[in-house]
Parts: sequence; C-alpha cells; structure tokens
Amino acid sequence: MTERVLWLADESATVNTGKTLANALKSVPSGPGIVIFLHGTLGAGKTTLSRGLIQGLGHQGAVKSPTYTLVEPYEQLEPAIWHFDLYRLGDPEELEFMGIRDYLTPGNVCLVEWPERGAGILPGPDLDLTLTPEGDGRSLVIEPRTAVGQVLLDRMQEQNGFAADGQPLPEDRTDQD
Ligand SMILES: Nc1ncnc2c1ncn2[C@@H]1O[C@H](COP(=O)(O)OP(=O)(O)OP(=O)(O)O)[C@@H](O)[C@H]1O
Ligand SMILES: [Mg+2]
Repeated sequence: MTERVLWLADESATVNTGKTLANALKSVPSGPGIVIFLHGTLGAGKTTLSRGLIQGLGHQGAVKSPTYTLVEPYEQLEPAIWHFDLYRLGDPEELEFMGIRDYLTPGNVCLVEWPERGAGILPGPDLDLTLTPEGDGRSLVIEPRTAVGQVLLDRMQEQNGFAADGQPLPEDRTDQD
C-alpha cells in the first residue's frame, strides 16, 4: 500500500487535513467500523487534526481533548466518532472495562491518540497517521493498513484542497537539520 507524506506549515493546515479526512470518511461505507491511529509526541497536533475531522463532520461545538476522560463520544455524527486519548491509560486491560468492543461496531469510527498505550487490546488500524514537529510546522505521514484505509487515502487525494493543505515533502529531507 502506498503511503503519503504531507507538509503542514501551520495549525490551519492540520485542521484542514482533518476536514479532508472527514470528507473521505463520509464517502466510504464504515462497514465493521473504522480505526484511525494518531501517532506523535506531546503537542504534535493529534487533537488539532481530530478537531478538524470532528468539526468537518458537522460538530458545532468545541472538541475537548479526551486526556482525562480517555474517550469523548460524538454519536450524533455520521459516521459516529469515538475520540480516544490513551495517554493516561494505566493498563491496556482497562480498555476492556471501558467496553472498547462496544465502541467498534458497524458504522463507528474510532480515532485514537496514543494508541501505543492500548497495545494488545486495541484492534489494528485502517489508517496510521504520524505527526512530527519539524521547524515551525509538522510533517504528516499517512499509511493505509487495510483496503478501507487505502480508499480513505485515495479519497483524500482526490479532493482539491489536499495539495494546498500540505505539499509533499521532497525525497531528500533526511539530511536536513
Ligand atoms: N502544522 C502545525 N504547525 C504548527 N503548529 C501546529 C500545527 N498543527 C498543530 N499545531 C499546534 O500544536 C499544538 C499542540 O497541538 P495538539 O494539542 O493538537 O497536540 P497533541 O498531539 O494532541 O498533544 P497531546 O499528546 O498532548 O494530546 C497546538 O498549539 C497547535 O496549534
Ligand atoms: Mg491531544
């Protein structure tokens, strides 16, 4: 499967990428449920991208970071979103007590910050998103892990705003300071 790397120059580029993903989600059947992992250090922009996604699906209010609640539900959206932040999860087993299996039902989308903390209990993702601070902005790597994930990436790329949100990084950025 093909991955894609984007350059997000500022916060609004991160929000817009979340909106682009929201549009992609609207266009695919969510089948048995869709799982999206958001990787990245503290302050990398995971909640910012989530906010763009959740508001892009029509949520009018604020998007709270689920740092203390572990999960914030947006059940009224289509598709319904469950926004997790597992940073403060003590043990992956706690996810079982929270009823993780009830969240991942047909039609639902689970958006998970700090998915590493739920290793062993969380199902594998359809899409891995990795945000990395670089200079004043962020790089974003989008990696499809399933056929549904690949369709989501394809739908993102089909949208006009995609290139404007983040230009592909040059191939040779590894030697940059
Ligand atoms: N592309 C970007 N360029 C520069 N700043 C950005 C970009 N995207 C987001 N930010 C900024 O990064 C900061 C932290 O973002 P955010 O809270 O989304 O991080 P997070 O990854 O969810 O962190 P945590 O792990 O603590 O939950 C915010 O101030 C936001 O404005
Ligand atoms: Mg966050």
